[in-house]
Amino acid sequence: KKINMVKICCIGAGYVGGPTMAVIALKCPSIEVAVVDISVARIAAWNSDQLPIYEPGLEDIVKQCRGKNLSFSSDVEKHVCEADIIFVSVNTPTKTRGLGAGKAADLTYWESAARMIADVSKSDKIVVEKSTVPVKTAEAIEKILTHNSKGINYQILSNPEFLAEGTAIQDLFNPDRVLIGGRETPEGRKAVQALKEVYANWVSEDRIITTNLWSAELSKLAANAFLAQRISSVNAISALCEATGADVSEVAYAVGKDTRIGPKFLNASVGFGGSCFQKDILNLIYICECNGLPEVANYWKQVIKINDYQKNRFVNRVVASMFNTVAGKKIAVLGFAFKKDTGDTRETPAIDVCKGLLGDKAKICIYDPQVSEDQIQRDLAMNKFDWDHPIHLQPMSPTAVKEVSVTWDAYEATKGAHGICILTEWDEFKKLDYAKIYQSMQKPAFIFDGRNVVDPVKLREIGFIVYSIGKPL
Ligand code: NAD
Ligand code: UGA
Repeated sequence: KKINMVKICCIGAGYVGGPTMAVIALKCPSIEVAVVDISVARIAAWNSDQLPIYEPGLEDIVKQCRGKNLSFSSDVEKHVCEADIIFVSVNTPTKTRGLGAGKAADLTYWESAARMIADVSKSDKIVVEKSTVPVKTAEAIEKILTHNSKGINYQILSNPEFLAEGTAIQDLFNPDRVLIGGRETPEGRKAVQALKEVYANWVSEDRIITTNLWSAELSKLAANAFLAQRISSVNAISALCEATGADVSEVAYAVGKDTRIGPKFLNASVGFGGSCFQKDILNLIYICECNGLPEVANYWKQVIKINDYQKNRFVNRVVASMFNTVAGKKIAVLGFAFKKDTGDTRETPAIDVCKGLLGDKAKICIYDPQVSEDQIQRDLAMNKFDWDHPIHLQPMSPTAVKEVSVTWDAYEATKGAHGICILTEWDEFKKLDYAKIYQSMQKPAFIFDGRNVVDPVKLREIGFIVYSIGKPL
C-alpha cells in the first residue's frame, strides 16, 4: 500500500483531535482524514460556521479542507473500519470515584474506544495514542485489541501531543518535536515509520524523535510536570517578592537570562489552569505511588500545592486589602478563560477565585471576550473534576449563581464596582480606557492584576489602588 492512499481516522473531535487533524489534512493533501466523536452536537458544530472551539487560524484551515480531504462525522464505526491509522484523542480526566479517585487517570473513554475498534475492524490497523495517558497504557490497549482481534494485526504507537491552546495552529505547523514511541519489533518499527511519513510532509526529520513506547508515554507527563513546575517556582518567588519589595518581573528576567534556564514560561500569575497540568501531574503522582516511590510523588505534589496556595493567596489579598470584607461589594472580573486567545475554561484559576470571593459574599460581574454566560454558570456550579467529562454528560442547566452576572463589555462589568480582578491576560485589557473606568467606579477603586498586564504606575496616577502579582505596592 502506498502512503498516498492512507486513510486516517481520529476518535475524539476536541481541542486536540480537531486542530491536529485539520493540520494533517492541510499538509497532506493525499491523505483522507475523518474526525469522529460520540457527541453529535460537537460534530454538528465542526460542520457548521461556528466551530466548537476558538483557536486563532483554525477556521481558515477547516474551511479550506472540509469537504475535500477532511470530514467530521458521528458515524464512528464506519470511519474506524475504513482507516489504516486510527488516532485516539478522547479525554482522559481524573477519576472521581473508586480506586485512585482524585488522582488516577480515568481511562473509561479510552477503553470503550479501544473495544469499539476491536469490534468493527476488518483490516490491520495502526492505533495511535494521542491522548495523554499513564505509562503502560499501550500495554493495556494492546491486550484489549489482541484478545478481541479476529486475526487482525494491531500496532500501538504513542504519539503524545504538545500543542498549547491559543497557539495550537502555530505549534502544529512548527513543533519543537514530534514524539513517536513504538514496539521494538519489525512490525513495530514499520508502524513508527508509517506515522513518521505522515509528519514528514511538513516536519523536518531532526525534529521527529522515535523512542520505545514507555519513554514516549512518560515524556508527555514529564514535560507537563516540568512546565507547571516552572510556573509554581516563579509563583513561589512572587510571594517572597511581595514580602520583600523585590519585583518578580525583574527577578524572572534576571534568572531567565541564564541560558541554562531560559526566558520563557516564567510569568508569575494567579496560578496555572487548563485541562492538563493539574490532571497530568496528579496522574504522574499516582503512578509514582503505585510504583512504590512516595518521595518522588511528594516532590511533584508540591507543584500543585503551590498553585492552590497562589490562588488562595490572591483571594485573601483582595479581601484583606478591601478592609477585610467584600460582602455586598461589586467586584468586576476581567477574563475567565484559563489563558488568552481561547474560550476554554477548564480548571481556570478564575473558578477558584470567583468561588473564593463568593464565599466572602461578593457580587461578581464577569467579562471575557470568548466565554459565554452559560459556560461560566456551569463552571461555577460544577464539582471539582466533573468538567473533563464529555459535554453531554455535564449538568445541562445548573441553578445559576445569582450573585454572578456576566456581560459582553468590560466597561459595563466595571461600572459601579469597588474592585477589578484581572484573571486572564487578554491583550485588550492592556488597551482599556482606565481613566473612564476609574470615573465609573466606587472609591477607593482597587485593581488586582492577577496576570501583570497593566502598568501599575500609570494606574496609580489615575487614582487606582493597584495590587500586582509579586510587585511592590
Ligand atoms: P476534549 O474533551 O476537548 O475532547 C475529547 C473528545 O472525545 C470529546 O469531544 C468526547 O466527546 C470524545 N469522546 C470521548 N469518548 C469517546 C468515544 N468512546 N468515542 C468517540 N469520541 C469520544 O479533550 P482534549 O482537550 O482534546 O484532550 C484530549 C486528550 O489530549 C487528553 O488526554 C488530553 O490530556 C490530551 N491533550 C490535551 C491538550 C490540550 O491542549 N487540550 C494538549 C495536549 C494533550
Ligand atoms: C500546556 C502545555 O504548554 C502544552 O505543551 C501541552 O501540550 C498542554 O498543556 C497539554 O498537555 O494539554 P496549555 O495548558 O494549553 O498547554 O497552555 P499553557 O500555555 O501551557 O498555559 C497553562 C497555564 O499556565 C495557563 O493558565 C497559563 O496562563 C499559565 N501560565 C503559563 C502562567 O501562569 N505563567 C507562564 O509563564 C505560562
